[in-house]
Amino acid sequence: MKDKHLYIETFGCQMNVHDSEQMAVLLSEMGYALTDNSQKADLILINGCSIREKAEQKAFSELGRLIRLKAKNPNLIVGFGGCLAQHWGRKVYSRVRDVDLVFGTHNIHRLPEMVAACQQERKKITRTDFSSKITSLNIFAPPPQGSISAFVSIMQGCDNYCAYCVVPYLRGPEMSRTPDDIIDEIKKLVQHGVKEVTLLGQNVNSYGRKLNRDCNFVLLIQRINEIDGLERIRFTTSHPKDLSDDLIDCFARVPKICEHIHMAVQSGSNRILKLMNRGYTAEDFLEKVEKLRHACPHISITSDIIVGFPGETQQNYQATIELMEKIRFDLLFSFKYSARAGTAAQKLKDNVPEDEKNQRLNFLQALQNRHTQEKHTALEGSVQEVLVEGLSKNSGQDMTGRARSWKIVNFKGGSELIGKMVNVEITCGYLHSLRGKIKED
Ligand code: 5AD
Ligand code: SF4
Repeated sequence: MKDKHLYIETFGCQMNVHDSEQMAVLLSEMGYALTDNSQKADLILINGCSIREKAEQKAFSELGRLIRLKAKNPNLIVGFGGCLAQHWGRKVYSRVRDVDLVFGTHNIHRLPEMVAACQQERKKITRTDFSSKITSLNIFAPPPQGSISAFVSIMQGCDNYCAYCVVPYLRGPEMSRTPDDIIDEIKKLVQHGVKEVTLLGQNVNSYGRKLNRDCNFVLLIQRINEIDGLERIRFTTSHPKDLSDDLIDCFARVPKICEHIHMAVQSGSNRILKLMNRGYTAEDFLEKVEKLRHACPHISITSDIIVGFPGETQQNYQATIELMEKIRFDLLFSFKYSARAGTAAQKLKDNVPEDEKNQRLNFLQALQNRHTQEKHTALEGSVQEVLVEGLSKNSGQDMTGRARSWKIVNFKGGSELIGKMVNVEITCGYLHSLRGKIKED
């Protein structure tokens, strides 16, 4: 019997979204039912992101807003978790005094014991130590009823130390789960009705490197491909320096792998890539893209770019624009550089003025919109295999799903199609989605 309510607010990447799903599962075993009404909650958790300053501010301002609910409900417990809590530790209390619980990225599995201690002893609990095991990742989170697609963390942490990035400090060193644990989890998900999994890791291409046995990402994918009832495999993120020819080849020969790769380029300037400690040049990246397109001509390629990295000149920025013109990404996530405490780049002067960063970002985003629109228009008349996920958010009457390319496709159809694979003929390519009609055989 669930007689208490849990409200979770999540910021940041898919990793954080997945961590929140695991928190909900653990706390449900303690009698907490999820609610989307913070006013009704007995326990509020904020799972914050620390990757850029803006993300950090957003999470703190939500914390400030939600903590006021304690005035009405003195028994309310408020916890602050994730990368952001890992980063701030006890200092969270000096920013927002009434927080009860601060827990880091390696302590999710200890939530029940921490919440119980908060309830019984009414004292503050802080846990931000790193563990040498990956206990948190082995929590099985049954997907919400009716889920078609699920995330599966295959590893945690990162050893790459890109100069701008705070992740290795907040999620610890790279550690991979064993293939057997991953396969077991996916089989359980399939029993719950899941048809598509997205394998998560900061750099899935280096999966298994430290497991000290005959194990790598390609072998893992091949085993996952054998799971009956699973129809699609996706993964994110791929670091370009570790994208092997073997993995590229999987796009051509492993049937369940979807034709989409997210591979962050970050910059098109070799000087900036070097300063970023990325381990490849713009030419290397282009070569990988060519190989991918050779192995799989329709592959959709998405990426991340940072503008205004310390010392980025107009010429360096132009090199990024030129690379974008050559590659023509399907979609791009672009960001203004944000200095992060403890990273190597923090020691460099953040010397691109804010106005200039804004201009660079705006121009780059407008260019990307043109590229995305071109790609989507070119798909008009094509037939796409769509895994139907549910009702479209924009119009309550349409069904929605994703093509193998990860593009959203909306079309008219009934709810009996949810969880099914349908062929949809694309009639119109918009910037953020495709529209089509079911193609009868
Ligand atoms: N400033 C701006 N963008 C960043 N990213 C990571 N760290 C920073 C930072 N300090 C971006 C990168 C990464 C994505 C998840 O976030 O592009 O690929
Ligand atoms: Fe950050 Fe680089 Fe690791 Fe990605 S690969 S999480 S950008 S350090």
